[in-house]
Amino acid sequence: MRKGEYIRDILAGDVGRPVVAHGWVKTRRDSKGIHFVQINDGSCFADLQVVIENGAIEESVLKQVTTGASVRVEGELVPSPASGQPVELKAKAIFVYGTADPASYPLQKKGHTMEFLREIAHLRPRSNTFGAVFRVRNALAKAIHDFFQERGFLYVHTPIITTSDCEGAGAMFGVTTLDLMNLPRYGEGPRIGEIDFSQDFFGKPAYLTVSGQLEAEVFALAFTNVYTFGPTFRAENSNTPRHLAEFWMVEPEMAFCDLQDDIALAEEFLKAIIAKVMDECLPDLEFFNKRFDPQVLETLEHVVKSSFAHVSYTEAIEILQKSGRNWEFPVHWGADLQSEHERYLTEEVFRRPVIVTDYPKEIKAFYMRVNEDGRTVRAMDVLAPRIGEIIGGSQREERYDVLLQRIRECGLSEENYWWYLDLRKYGSAPHAGFGLGFERLMLYLTGMKNIRDVIPFPRTPGSAEF
Ligand code: 4AD
Ligand code: MG
Repeated sequence: MRKGEYIRDILAGDVGRPVVAHGWVKTRRDSKGIHFVQINDGSCFADLQVVIENGAIEESVLKQVTTGASVRVEGELVPSPASGQPVELKAKAIFVYGTADPASYPLQKKGHTMEFLREIAHLRPRSNTFGAVFRVRNALAKAIHDFFQERGFLYVHTPIITTSDCEGAGAMFGVTTLDLMNLPRYGEGPRIGEIDFSQDFFGKPAYLTVSGQLEAEVFALAFTNVYTFGPTFRAENSNTPRHLAEFWMVEPEMAFCDLQDDIALAEEFLKAIIAKVMDECLPDLEFFNKRFDPQVLETLEHVVKSSFAHVSYTEAIEILQKSGRNWEFPVHWGADLQSEHERYLTEEVFRRPVIVTDYPKEIKAFYMRVNEDGRTVRAMDVLAPRIGEIIGGSQREERYDVLLQRIRECGLSEENYWWYLDLRKYGSAPHAGFGLGFERLMLYLTGMKNIRDVIPFPRTPGSAEF
């Protein structure tokens, strides 16, 4: 690490001492021979104001101190006469590491649109908005690890390349080293004409994972309470403000645990990590409240204090049917909840996060535990106002015979899931878990409107620049 302090610490420190600051110039203003330069190093929302008095710095250097340039400033920290900042740095020496041509530097002081900033994702972290976004993202990641570590959960790194489809949804990216221009195919036998994946790198079709859950279950049935937190991939062609092709998912998995325990943990977890981020990143959240969503702080405070609403899927369907609304997607028992339904439940009926449980088995994944009624499964989704589904989880089917039957019913190949079935043969136990979409929670925390603006380098259909 370089010598000198973070701007965050400089701003909180005592005046009258020598200080060395590093950062990028946000703005520069000249008034009556005095120069006011705001610099920021990403350590906090506030900029450090550098004051350069007439003749204090050589003209050739001063010329290079323009928006975007990277600088080191040495000087004395003094009380600031300006309002809104307690201290400022009186410059004695400035070194410019890298200049930035003011005529072409794309990040100007005027407010840019989010769309434009996405096109300059290599520079947007230096803007006020994205500085705040990525500090909150960092604090949220830390809060998540702290939450589980404090409760004795083991952090397990599940694979990114996989040969099993966890969600059985088929929206997976293939991973292959086969020559796409010259694919090997079976020349005879029952699979004639099909691609011969035995010649591929892994000897069978492989994919980028859609969830670390199946492997997390293996670890939960050895370490009791575990969690994964890693990149997750979905090839669904969903061009919405809430879908990414590459996102991060947090997946706890707990042995000796049923759906009620799972729900209780999800609620405690969301409240704890939101409270922690509010504690650590208040200036950033205040900025979002001011610039993007005047309700965001109030909503977060409310969520931390109040309890979530609980309804079964069947009750939710009744509420939607009685609403008297004209739904774009018709509501009937057996239909999946669409975003218009989720928003109605969270924003108009309950006005807080809602946990929906016990969905029909046909619209949920094969691994969920079948209820006594034989029609529903022990699933739970946490829906949040404005965002919709933020968590999806369930109690897992721990009975060998029932699981085997579900795998067959869902048209999956049981050979592929042999090890997952084996877990039900040797020391099986009730267990449950859930998956939190990390960027969905980021949307909730920041009030940002588009999921592309809460991840450093978004991957979406047609877009993987940077
Ligand atoms: O509901 P999902 O598909 O659940 C699972 O994958 C389970 N295996 C989790 C588990 O039980 N361990 O996904 C979980 C969450 C969703 O609720 C949503 O927040 C997020 O992942 N998610 C996405 N986030 C961004 N872009 C996408 N394309 C997403 N798909 C799901
Ligand atoms: Mg889901």
